[in-house]
Amino acid sequence: MSRVALLRALPPVERDIGARVAARTPSHVAIARDYGEMYFDGPREYGYGGYVYDGRWQGVARDIVAHFDLPLGARILDIGCAKGFLVADLLALGMDAYGVDVSVYALEHCHPSAAGRLFLGSASSLPFTTPFDAVLSINTLHNLQRQEVVKALHSIQRLSGGNAFVQVDSYETAAQAIALSRWVLTAQFVAPPSGWMALFDEAGYTGDYDFTLME
Ligand SMILES: C[S@@+](CC[C@H](N)C(=O)[O-])C[C@H]1O[C@@H](n2cnc3c(N)ncnc32)[C@H](O)[C@@H]1O
Repeated sequence: MSRVALLRALPPVERDIGARVAARTPSHVAIARDYGEMYFDGPREYGYGGYVYDGRWQGVARDIVAHFDLPLGARILDIGCAKGFLVADLLALGMDAYGVDVSVYALEHCHPSAAGRLFLGSASSLPFTTPFDAVLSINTLHNLQRQEVVKALHSIQRLSGGNAFVQVDSYETAAQAIALSRWVLTAQFVAPPSGWMALFDEAGYTGDYDFTLME
């Protein structure tokens, strides 16, 4: 179990935190938590502000394959796969990749090469029994409530045997805690790295991890 920056190949995210705070209402939070069109492809104050395939996950896919030393045809699951962009880039590397997400909208607007490989379901009650060679969950688990996160981590451990990577929103400084509370609309479990590590232990999760920190 180690902290590893598997998203290091991604370009930096531009966040206008002031604009989001100025626009934010309880309705924005409720709409974002529907994970529908507004969250992915509506105005930026509701979420992504337009989530289109631009190849940004290709480097991450390569780093994941290298990190876990995955052979061609390895079975990989991406939990919180959104439109399946990472799944598509893993498929392009010869992996047998699948995704799961709660968003009907994202699955209906998925990358064409991921079609038929993405399943509707929640991280806390995963619709899989056969193990995977690696399980990923990127910027997703903080959207669940604490007990649901524990269930999700437990399932990730069961399906991966610990060959897994989880990245979650977190904070190490007061400024990062403020930025997180202002920027993220969907988070339900917020903790510093030590809180996440305690949760990993509680769930018996032994895979790798990293934290998304924002200023
Ligand atoms: C911030 S996005 C991250 C998407 C993708 N992993 C990425 O990094 O671009 C969070 C994703 O989690 C999904 N999600 C939210 N709650 C979920 C749950 N309980 N189970 C599975 N997916 C969930 C959302 O639909 C959304 O696609």
